[in-house]
Amino acid sequence: MSALVEQIDKQRLPRHIAIIMDGNGRWAKEKGEDRLFGHFHGVESVRNIVEGCAELGVEYLTLYAFSTENWDRPEYEVVGLMELLVNTIRKEVESLNKNNIRLHVIGDMSMLPDYAKKELDEALEITRKNTGLNLIMALSYSGRWELLNAVKNIAYEVKSGRLNVEAINQDTLQRYLCTSGFPDPELMIRTSGEYRISNFLLYQLAYAELYFTNVRWPDFRKDNLYEAIIDYQGRERRFGKTSEQVTVEDKA
Ligand code: IPE
Ligand code: IPE
Ligand code: MG
Repeated sequence: MSALVEQIDKQRLPRHIAIIMDGNGRWAKEKGEDRLFGHFHGVESVRNIVEGCAELGVEYLTLYAFSTENWDRPEYEVVGLMELLVNTIRKEVESLNKNNIRLHVIGDMSMLPDYAKKELDEALEITRKNTGLNLIMALSYSGRWELLNAVKNIAYEVKSGRLNVEAINQDTLQRYLCTSGFPDPELMIRTSGEYRISNFLLYQLAYAELYFTNVRWPDFRKDNLYEAIIDYQGRERRFGKTSEQVTVEDKA
């Protein structure tokens, strides 16, 4: 049993953890291998972290697997990633089901090749009734794509007379995001030493605690996750208020 996991306060777990799984390419290059070798090994980290979150009782885990900008990578890498995705889902869906994990996808599914869409739809259906961890894969996703989509759909509703402009509030906007139904992430982790958001959950991360580590994604394991959670639990989340205010509220 890991000593780190015992330092986690189970009463104050983040409900939703979001991860930018970065560094597969560099991990492979450092080993003199092709970038796809890194992606291949990244799957082992996904398995390990999904298991870690499920064991802890985290309710939502969002993994940034492929951004809308990643379509501009060399074709062989894009094709390799799509194949890896489809094969992984096919292989893992049974174990997701056994562990009561429900799969969700967010992103521009219209960009995905048909065979990938089909595989995903099946996995979504197979895990639909599960009530444990919600595993949200961000695929062909970007925050700007999502916001643009939301604005367009809200505009259609207004135009058709179903929605009154005056009635639009934060809740309305949230309903038009791909994440409606999920709480905002309290903790966002990015691996591999880059300090940026790269178009991930731009709206939802407004008050997330950000955690950056130099560990490359293929090396990221449960203990690294525990370290991030322990770090998160040591922070004071003020949401614009003063430290005195939030300390009083905590005690109330
Ligand atoms: C993250 O690793 C995986 C995807 C973006 C699909 P990268 O492929 O970005 O690896 P680096 O950042 O080039 O090392
Ligand atoms: C962000 O990583 C996207 C994913 C991890 C899926 P990138 O490697 O694409 O981001 P940049 O290019 O370094 O900002
Ligand atoms: Mg990268």
